Amino acid sequence: FRATGPYRSLLSSLFVLIVPSNSGTIVGSVRSAQESSVSYPPPTMSCPVRSGFVDSVQGGHHLGSEAGMLYGEYLMLDKVLSAQRMLSVEGNKPVHDEHLFIVTHQAYELWFKQIIFELDSIRVLFSTEHIEESRTLEILKRLNRIVMILKLLVDQVPILETMTPLDFMDFRDYLSPASGFQSLQFRLLENKLGVKSEHRVKYNQKYTEVFASDPSAIDRIAVTEAEPSLADLVQKWLERTPGLEEDGFNFWGKFQESVEKLLSDQEASAMKEEHEHVREYRLMDIGKRREVYKSIFDAQVHDALVARGERRFTHKALQGAIMITFYRDEPRFSQPHQLLMLLMDIDSLITKWRYNHVIMVQRMIGSQQLGTGGSSGYQYLRSTLSDRYKVFLDLFNLSTFLIPRNTIPPLTNEMQKALNMAWGSPAHTAAHVVSSLVSKMTEVIEMLMIILIVTLCFLMIPFNTKPSPVLEARKKFDIFVRLYDKPYRYDVREYDYRFQIFRTSLNRIRQLNEHRSAVGDDAAIYGVTQYADLTDREFIAQHLADLLAADEMAAPRLHQKYAIVSRSEEMKNDIIFSRARRDLPTNLPPTVDWREKGIITPVKSQGSCGACWAISVVDTIAALAAIKRIDQQQQPTAPVTDLCHEQVVHCAGNGNNGCSGGDTCLLLEWLKQESFPIGAAAECPYRRLADTDRNCTLPGSMVAGAWQPAQHRETRIKRFSCDRFENREHLILQHLATKGPLVAAVNAVSWKYYLGGVIQYHCDSGPQLLNHAVQIVGYELNATIPYYIVKNSWGVRFGDRGYVKVAIGRNLCGIANRVSFIELV
Ligand code: HEM
Repeated sequence: FRATGPYRSLLSSLFVLIVPSNSGTIVGSVRSAQESSVSYPPPTMSCPVRSGFVDSVQGGHHLGSEAGMLYGEYLMLDKVLSAQRMLSVEGNKPVHDEHLFIVTHQAYELWFKQIIFELDSIRVLFSTEHIEESRTLEILKRLNRIVMILKLLVDQVPILETMTPLDFMDFRDYLSPASGFQSLQFRLLENKLGVKSEHRVKYNQKYTEVFASDPSAIDRIAVTEAEPSLADLVQKWLERTPGLEEDGFNFWGKFQESVEKLLSDQEASAMKEEHEHVREYRLMDIGKRREVYKSIFDAQVHDALVARGERRFTHKALQGAIMITFYRDEPRFSQPHQLLMLLMDIDSLITKWRYNHVIMVQRMIGSQQLGTGGSSGYQYLRSTLSDRYKVFLDLFNLSTFLIPRNTIPPLTNEMQKALNMAWGSPAHTAAHVVSSLVSKMTEVIEMLMIILIVTLCFLMIPFNTKPSPVLEARKKFDIFVRLYDKPYRYDVREYDYRFQIFRTSLNRIRQLNEHRSAVGDDAAIYGVTQYADLTDREFIAQHLADLLAADEMAAPRLHQKYAIVSRSEEMKNDIIFSRARRDLPTNLPPTVDWREKGIITPVKSQGSCGACWAISVVDTIAALAAIKRIDQQQQPTAPVTDLCHEQVVHCAGNGNNGCSGGDTCLLLEWLKQESFPIGAAAECPYRRLADTDRNCTLPGSMVAGAWQPAQHRETRIKRFSCDRFENREHLILQHLATKGPLVAAVNAVSWKYYLGGVIQYHCDSGPQLLNHAVQIVGYELNATIPYYIVKNSWGVRFGDRGYVKVAIGRNLCGIANRVSFIELV
């Protein structure tokens, strides 16, 4: 490439920004400030980054250059701000927008430089055999920074689009043959990430040829092509994922077994299909999925796909990525999983930038004109939007190979322990602790330095060292959005709106925690949960619309109908809890936790489906069926069969309304009347709760010809109650201790910010306020604040691994307002 014509100067100016600032070499001719057609303030505006600065206007003495560098000197503004040479001005036909065109490109180049700087440091951190957690944190921090910068770069395109095509036409001729295609930094960035030359779109210029006149640029490109890219290093790291060892946990072997079983079960179920064409279709579909899985299980097929450019990762690295995705809730895999997400973010943001750029190019020059760099212009750029430029393509495609949660190979005790090693656990070596301390201290020192510099820069403004609460909140919000993978990550307007709600949440959380220090550590702790970006109204509408409103359901009638009739005199007299509790130690065990018996099914995640009424009841039935088996077989434990609550959500009548809400009592009545067979979760015909419009289907074992009466009988209801136990909560305890888990309706509005500990304030109890249903699986009377152990259905990330502790004895959250005891046939 030989930049001819006046645009050559612009390119030379850009090159100043590319060359490391400490190299002292400036390539090309840079005109001095005096020569420049663009004026800028002389570098005397003093931000004393190093100097002892006192402003003379305020009566102090200006130490300035005697004591150190001035703002402009330090930032070399004479060079940066004199590098905007408007060729249209020189040609005596000034075009106002050329200034924007130059500054935008320069801004991009500066940010490219910063990204390369971060990428280089990340690659160094990745280049060791054992990456300690403290390093992973640093890598995450820097990858996140790259993501933030790329977001900014995507949003910067519309600024240049404020220039009209006509204005651009006025100075476009000066540019030829210069083009963004010649951005050395963009190429280095692509190579360092891992774009391979064989994947690039070919057109009449090879991307290295444009630098033919600049040997140093050619050298730099050659180095980046030869050295390990980020993608290479990430793969090496993934290959070392703990648990892949064939003589250890052997994840890959176990995963293959699970897939084989899943597909065989599905085949067996499809074979029983009455209608031939449906059967054929299902079998064909399973056959196709077999092929898909073969492509990862058979290393040769995988390698062939890599050779064809349809996959990028090595076979082992792909195994690591799948394993991390499956077990991402385990503490040791949480950071690696975040890292994989950030890598995908980088890929998608670069694609988004390419897309924005293409649209801008079409708007400026249309889709038929050649680019100034000699390509077909729009057509060439459009072809760069394909998957061939996605370095982490395989991560995007991981979802193809996922299997339902209940079929993921369970972790062995050893593996569980290994993956549970969290910060500060005894298994952590002293070296880990020291290195994490050093890293923390470095962070603190970095932070202090930043505060110091910023404070010095703003000496003219009243002195204030306190970090801005808005900035602090923003930082927390950024982490929150990433952690919960919020869909508005790249929607600036929605992002700001949600941030305002998030700030209100932070204030509310502060108030909720005010009681905490007064009552000690067992008390509930509130903080940022996945709901912190919702208004109360949204939270109630989206997550607490589960229970039908009191007037919609026949609640009083029904509760009366099924109220326990055999109450003893003592119960009728409404013995207040305090008295009952005095007697408790002699009557009841101080601790009951049915989880320890292994009869409690995993915590469910209802998502946006209002299905708590079904989940709480079905999970309780599953637990009671397991207890019955223990009693019958006289064994201390029995494996619990998780039941298909999705089927109940879809099928239940009697006024229940699928994902739009239902009622625990109406459901129990319906289950009893219909003698409804609830299938096992493993053969559940539904995958997702949200598909409420699907017809009610029975699971495979329930269809004609394959009836399993034993399993059905297990889940049939003999009787149940729906009753109030206000002031008689000791009866709830009695039932929990002697019979098993039970179902309760609650008011869960204040759970929005619940993180753990015992709830004993801020949870109103009026019977009209019930909006959610839960399962109670035990209680603890020995704690400072005795509590119920409540299983929720908002996923394991909510509260205490999916559970909530509610104080006993004060009908807190209305927990005693509508309680259901269930007895199975
Ligand atoms: C009016 C605005 C712009 C127009 C009309 C435009 C046009 C083009 C065209 C036609 C190409 C294809 C190569 C060629 O034949 O020239 C290209 C490539 C490129 N442009 Fe732009 N561009 C604009 C703004 C920008 C900006 C602000 C940047 C920021 C750095 C940029 C960076 C690039 C890069 C990196 C490439 C190479 C892409 C690749 O090969 O994958 N462009 N541009």
